[in-house]
Amino acid sequence: MNVTFLLNGESVELRDVSTTATLLDWLRDARGLTGTKEGCNEGDCGACTVMVQDEDGARALNACILFLPQLNGKSVRTVEGIASPDGQLHPVQQAMIDHHGSQCGFCTPGFITSMATAHLNGDGDHATALAGNLCRCTGYAPILRAAKAASAEPVPDWLSAFTVPEILAGGMAGGKPPTGATVQPETADDLAQWYAAHPDATLIAGATDVGLWVTKQGRELGPVAFLNRCRDLQQIEETETGVTLGAGVTIARLIPLFDRLSPSLAAMLRRYGSTQVRAAATIGGNIANGSPIGDGPPALIALGAVLHLRKGDTRRNIPLESFFLDYGKQDRSAGEFVEAVSFTKEPDRLRCYKLSKRFDQDISALCGCFNITVENGSVAAARIAFGGMAGIPKRAAQVETALIGQPWTEATIAAANPAWAEDFTPLSDMRASATYRLDTARNLLMRYYLETEGTGVSVKEVQA
Ligand SMILES: Cc1cc2nc3c(=O)[nH]c(=O)nc-3n(C[C@H](O)[C@H](O)[C@H](O)COP(=O)(O)OP(=O)(O)OC[C@H]3O[C@@H](n4cnc5c(N)ncnc54)[C@H](O)[C@@H]3O)c2cc1C
Ligand code: FES
Ligand code: FES
Repeated sequence: MNVTFLLNGESVELRDVSTTATLLDWLRDARGLTGTKEGCNEGDCGACTVMVQDEDGARALNACILFLPQLNGKSVRTVEGIASPDGQLHPVQQAMIDHHGSQCGFCTPGFITSMATAHLNGDGDHATALAGNLCRCTGYAPILRAAKAASAEPVPDWLSAFTVPEILAGGMAGGKPPTGATVQPETADDLAQWYAAHPDATLIAGATDVGLWVTKQGRELGPVAFLNRCRDLQQIEETETGVTLGAGVTIARLIPLFDRLSPSLAAMLRRYGSTQVRAAATIGGNIANGSPIGDGPPALIALGAVLHLRKGDTRRNIPLESFFLDYGKQDRSAGEFVEAVSFTKEPDRLRCYKLSKRFDQDISALCGCFNITVENGSVAAARIAFGGMAGIPKRAAQVETALIGQPWTEATIAAANPAWAEDFTPLSDMRASATYRLDTARNLLMRYYLETEGTGVSVKEVQA
């Protein structure tokens, strides 16, 4: 397919690009822009971070799991494009020198692009902005000091003056329904039509999963539809009574929404991957991949979410939990895709507990989400869902039954203990043992009880 974008301010038009060519490989191999480094090649280390700008603003993204077609109509800035054209350093570059923020330097270009993006966006939460950039030798204190020092400086002219020009319709369909084996539809209608006709195709949204199929598993993808130009799938619709999230809404965009609606969920989402991963990953991809350890599904199941599926012009809505049938198996037919997920607004009772070996940028060992309604001292309703406890994201149905109608007391929680083993038979793996998982799930219910009763919980979470 053909791809048109800006690279460090210059227009690039590529013809017949391979569907799965990554930006990182292309920058280094075809353009000789070797400042962008390859560390892990799976989105974990941030050495390949680039700044990507479009009409929605600037984002730091991992170039190793970014396919060239995803850049159509956007602007890319690599570390080579952070200083001014005449060589004047960007404030973050100068601050890294002043504060001794680099030793071997391998991680430094990724830090610089992440820092320059946060600087441009006025993001002063440096620890969060840089949690997706790993450094093995300098240590983070000098780097964080540099980021803080640079934040006092204005955005330099050569970046602040920059706007995304109207990119030519070059490789895009120009408003016509897409045809061919690799497409980038502009609307959900076009996607629906094409996918129904190509039901074996791979859909690519943020590519934070699919990218790894290519870079780590060497998979050939066959026909592909890139979803990132379907603006209608990227809408958040909020009314007085409910919220509908388009499948293409990124995790980053969910955080300000849930800061208002459910701060506990927002806090959990801040620990989802890294800034770079959250800027790419979509809620639709997080659901559709069917992962048993995804963080979005348990939270949305606890909120009572409904999944909106579409095939051609046929739509159906199902409770989110019934989408997950078995490990690797979802209630989705060939040619059917996730269009949206919605939930009804309720008083906020949701608490989300993500347990992982590292605080930042780690996959959950387990993720427990609790939403329990207490009326007149008794449990009136309960929705409890877990990731990491079964082959699918799953509700604790027996535990819920054991709680409903009972007084909301420690004794009721203790009496529900046997029900956990009826709901879950977790596995032991590198993240946690089965015993740890089951014991911890039980303890999280007690934590929820204590928290909602206003008792302090002595859980020490690492804060930067
Ligand atoms: C470094 C790193 C850290 C991560 N950390 C976390 C974490 O902390 N928590 C977590 O939950 N996940 C994490 N992930 C996993 C990943 O980010 C999520 O699963 C993500 O939400 C996937 O979304 P995506 O848009 O990138 O999906 P893609 O990779 O584009 O697609 C994933 C799957 O969904 C399908 N798909 C995408 N959109 C649709 C749609 N609309 N309809 C039907 N099918 C669709 C694709 O065909 C594919 O099968 C991490 C990944 C990486 C690389
Ligand atoms: S090379 Fe590690 S995140 Fe891309
Ligand atoms: S300076 Fe060596 S890895 Fe960061």
